[in-house]
Amino acid sequence: MAEKLKLLITAGPTREALDPVRFITNRSSGKMGYSLAAAAVEKGFSVILVSGPVDSSVIPPEGLTEFVPVVSAAEMAEAVKSRFPAMDAAILCAAVADYRPKIMETNKIKKKEGAFFLELERTEDILFSLGQMKTSAQRLIGFAAETENLAENALGKLKRKNLDWIAANQVGLPGQGFQSDRNEITLYGVNGETVQLPLTEKKLLARQMLDVIFQ
Ligand code: C5P
Repeated sequence: MAEKLKLLITAGPTREALDPVRFITNRSSGKMGYSLAAAAVEKGFSVILVSGPVDSSVIPPEGLTEFVPVVSAAEMAEAVKSRFPAMDAAILCAAVADYRPKIMETNKIKKKEGAFFLELERTEDILFSLGQMKTSAQRLIGFAAETENLAENALGKLKRKNLDWIAANQVGLPGQGFQSDRNEITLYGVNGETVQLPLTEKKLLARQMLDVIFQ
């Protein structure tokens, strides 16, 4: 029997702490990444799912090789980069925070009179880092959620981050994208391919995406 394809998937948001009780996050539900993980297990792949904190209704599929729960962008970066060398491919679907508080206070921040200024610093772009680590035998796939100039921005990311495919979706439209069960994606490949996957359930979309990428 042929070796199973080893695929790492990231999903969900990250949380960046200000103090022990407060954090910055985003509205990612994790549904797209978890659907990809389920579809990849169905296809017979060996799947590692690295996930930020998601709602308890979003459940990891059975049959994963490994499930790695993480909280912050830094934890996700460490979990992903340490596992990537042993992988055949990675699909980074997580909505990783781009910025985190520069200082994580050890005690709860007290309220005071007047405005409060919070200094943020950049987090690591995990997808970019994997693009630098990638060997010619490995495939790397990213997502691009855009509100404008979808094709131009997605193709820019494909090149800059050294990807094989990018899954681009228009965000800010009602009934699709973040938190929704449905989405619409355009896949752009490094060899000039463009594949439109029309609006449908994320579960079906995940299967279609894997069929295109791993045909
Ligand atoms: O550049 P942008 O954040 O729009 O790129 C989105 C893609 O990059 C997604 O695949 C996302 O998972 C990945 N990403 C990442 N680490 C970050 C930011 C984004 O892996 N810090």
